[in-house]
Amino acid sequence: FALIDEPTNHLDEDSRQEISNYLGKHEKGYIVVSHDRDFLNQVTDHILAIENTEIHLYQGNFATYEDTKQKRDEFNHERNQKLKGEINELHQQKEQFYHWAQKVEARKNIGRKYQHVLNRRTRLNKGAIGHAAAKMMKKSINARDRMDHKIQVKQGLMTNIEDIPELSMNFKANYHSTLLEIQHLDLQIDGKSLFKDLNLVVKNHGVISLEGRNGSGKSTFLKMLLDKAPTAKYQGKYELADGLSISYLPQDFTEYKGTLHNFAYEHKISYEELLNNLKKLGFPRASFATPIEEMSMGQQKRVALAKSLVEPSDLYLWDEPANYFDVFNQDQLIELLKKVKPAMLLIEHDEYFIEQVADQRVRLDIA
Ligand SMILES: Nc1ncnc2c1ncn2[C@@H]1O[C@H](COP(=O)(O)OP(=O)(O)OP(=O)(O)O)[C@@H](O)[C@H]1O
Ligand SMILES: [Mg+2]
Repeated sequence: FALIDEPTNHLDEDSRQEISNYLGKHEKGYIVVSHDRDFLNQVTDHILAIENTEIHLYQGNFATYEDTKQKRDEFNHERNQKLKGEINELHQQKEQFYHWAQKVEARKNIGRKYQHVLNRRTRLNKGAIGHAAAKMMKKSINARDRMDHKIQVKQGLMTNIEDIPELSMNFKANYHSTLLEIQHLDLQIDGKSLFKDLNLVVKNHGVISLEGRNGSGKSTFLKMLLDKAPTAKYQGKYELADGLSISYLPQDFTEYKGTLHNFAYEHKISYEELLNNLKKLGFPRASFATPIEEMSMGQQKRVALAKSLVEPSDLYLWDEPANYFDVFNQDQLIELLKKVKPAMLLIEHDEYFIEQVADQRVRLDIA
């Protein structure tokens, strides 16, 4: 029985398709862990979803699961809102009882203080006011206990829906309308040809997806733009606008090391904002003190991405942001990119992610 853990990470479209075809012919069952929705839709007929701390089994592929979950979340959300309203009302009633009880208590004290006057004037039975007050007090305490109980029951009925916080990024559109222009560019490294005749324009708004097979030179191309690939050579033309603040999300981030505190200091970004973004991405607080090189790949990826979101930028070069990200994090990124539409050159193999965020798709021709 095969247990397959994230088989499509880093793989290009054709390789993903090959795995999907292979699994399609696999007659025995298997459990596959993946964040790639397109792939999951092709290779699954049941979904085991871990939601908060519970495991739910859904019949159908990922699309069916998403649909069912969305409907259930909507239903629960409405019910939670109603319960919240009722709980608030109970709290208000409790508050009223509290004030009432206080008033009664105050009357009792006044009663004691002026007992001699009252006795003289009204010939009231000694202790009658105190007795009535004590009775009312007991009544009000009982009522409050009953309300506390009701509140507890209603709180118990509320469903724990996974809350996905909204991300933000520090993007400001540059005054140049064109940030990067590439014409007929051929790329080589160490004398080896990678791709040829690349043409693209990145404006000061909008996501351009740059696609190509594994090893076609996408990452090398981004590094070349950033002067990080000294052995890369090119023919053709490329032009980057002057004075751009570029935020680079590398595909591999082994160069990131040390504590988050030092990391923020070295990269001149706000430590608080970095932690804030990490919290929103579901990064466990317990790992804030772990040196980056000792974090899991997924955690390192979140650090790299949180950094990119914090630094003020007018151009983003993102190399496989969806890799290692679960569907919730991917949705956070998708929502963000759809809303902000930053100037971005995006490299990604996840078809669903590209479809959602790309304004234009460019394919590399292999040399
Ligand atoms: N510094 C280097 N020296 C020599 N060859 C390199 C160097 N960096 C990359 N290469 C080679 O260049 C080719 C392209 O690598 P690159 O990482 O740019 O591909 P990619 O398109 O990003 O692939 P993937 O989709 O797998 O990330 C590979 O064959 C790689 O071995
Ligand atoms: Mg790459």
